[in-house]
Amino acid sequence: MLAPDAFFTLYSGLDREGPGLPEDVLWALGVAGTPEAAAICDAGCGSGADTVTLAEARPGARITAIDITPSLAAEARARAARFGDRVRVREGNMADLPGKFDLVWCAGAAYFLGLEAALRGWRGALAPGGRIAFSEPVYPHPPTAAMLDFWQDVPGSVTDLDGIIARIAAAGYRSLGHRLLIGAPWAAYYAPLEARIAKLRAAQPSPELSLVLDSSAREIAAWQASPDDIAYALFVVEPA
Ligand SMILES: C[S@@+](CC[C@H](N)C(=O)[O-])C[C@H]1O[C@@H](n2cnc3c(N)ncnc32)[C@H](O)[C@@H]1O
Repeated sequence: MLAPDAFFTLYSGLDREGPGLPEDVLWALGVAGTPEAAAICDAGCGSGADTVTLAEARPGARITAIDITPSLAAEARARAARFGDRVRVREGNMADLPGKFDLVWCAGAAYFLGLEAALRGWRGALAPGGRIAFSEPVYPHPPTAAMLDFWQDVPGSVTDLDGIIARIAAAGYRSLGHRLLIGAPWAAYYAPLEARIAKLRAAQPSPELSLVLDSSAREIAAWQASPDDIAYALFVVEPA
């Protein structure tokens, strides 16, 4: 078991905690047709990188961001403070979304609930015409040993695109569009993390922290060895 305090030390102050780029958020807003004065939820917001992008892209929107990790929710709250009351950050469980939203945005977090359970559970949190955008681990081509190894710790099973589309249908939704997140969105996550690891290693880390640094460095090295194999799929879906 890796120490939670060491994770906090490694991740605190990073821009984001999973792969993604602002352009992915903008793409999803366009596919979802999210209106200017929308109610938007950033479920599993982490330190709030996408919360900020959503708030900037829809200046008339009200945004609720939720994360279960207190330190990350606090970081997101500080980053979003400049938007005033229209962006609220809550520490809490995204299984229980408060309100009716035109868009539920969930980057790299739905698999913590299980994709089907998340989609089923969020149906009651959608306003009429509301949509959900989520990113989910995917096999972009038949799985290699590197892909199977990379995803071995992910809760639930990783599938190809057809497998995700089948889970979307099983949860009572249909897809409005999808795109693969390969390469640059992962570099946006891993480059700052790699720099942080180097900085912490230079400062005589504790044994607990060293274990966490080694584990994250192995993950980054695995991605660097096979960047075209490791992907998320970003989907926009609506109730069927
Ligand atoms: C891989 S990170 C992604 C964070 C952020 N969306 C991003 O892309 O930078 C997953 C996030 O989901 C949060 N999380 C996991 N389970 C959750 C739950 N049940 N409710 C709310 N947040 C949760 C974690 O605390 C973490 O911040």
